[in-house]
Amino acid sequence: MTERLVTDLKAAIRSIPDYPKPGVVFRDITTLLGDARAFRRAVDEMVQPWPGSKIDKVAGIEARGFILGGAVAHQLSAGFVPIRKKGKLPHATVRVAYSLEYGIDEMEMHRDAVTPGDRVILVDDLIATGGTAAGAVKLLHNLGAEVVAAVFVIDLPDLGGADKLRELGITVRTLMS
Ligand code: PRP
Ligand code: ADE
Repeated sequence: MTERLVTDLKAAIRSIPDYPKPGVVFRDITTLLGDARAFRRAVDEMVQPWPGSKIDKVAGIEARGFILGGAVAHQLSAGFVPIRKKGKLPHATVRVAYSLEYGIDEMEMHRDAVTPGDRVILVDDLIATGGTAAGAVKLLHNLGAEVVAAVFVIDLPDLGGADKLRELGITVRTLMS
């Protein structure tokens, strides 16, 4: 990735201080999504290592990971799997509790959303503490999927999430810190 591209993508993201809690600087990607060129360039960079390789599914984490994950799945000609906050999926699910930068929650995926051995790329907009992504990896591993990589637009390195995922043996790709 060129420095110019990183600068352009950073400029397309809005920072909101003290949201949703005092002391948190919220990185708002809706401005990037609304910018046709920035959205296209971000998705192109997210998939950059995997053109032509066999990826069965892209798993996107609710809610912002759905938008990026859908675009990534299309680009890789892969299926899309939603990982949702608890209580939203209608069929049999697996569930995991997780903590994140500003709270705790539980998330689920359908038991039949992946087949053992499926090669899956996990997608979200941002990794902070890594609690959310580590929970998603746990769900995918429990169902026998191979997590080829986890891809995020934004890494908040001070919160250590990307390193935590790497310690779990996951390949992590982020576009900016
Ligand atoms: C945000 C973000 C990631 C998660 C990262 O989602 O989109 O999913 O936090 O935090 P972590 O690395 O500390 O776990 P959020 O839970 O705010 O949900 P939303 O996308 O529904 O707003
Ligand atoms: N999720 C966790 N921390 C976040 C932050 N600072 N901005 C946006 N989403 C987040």
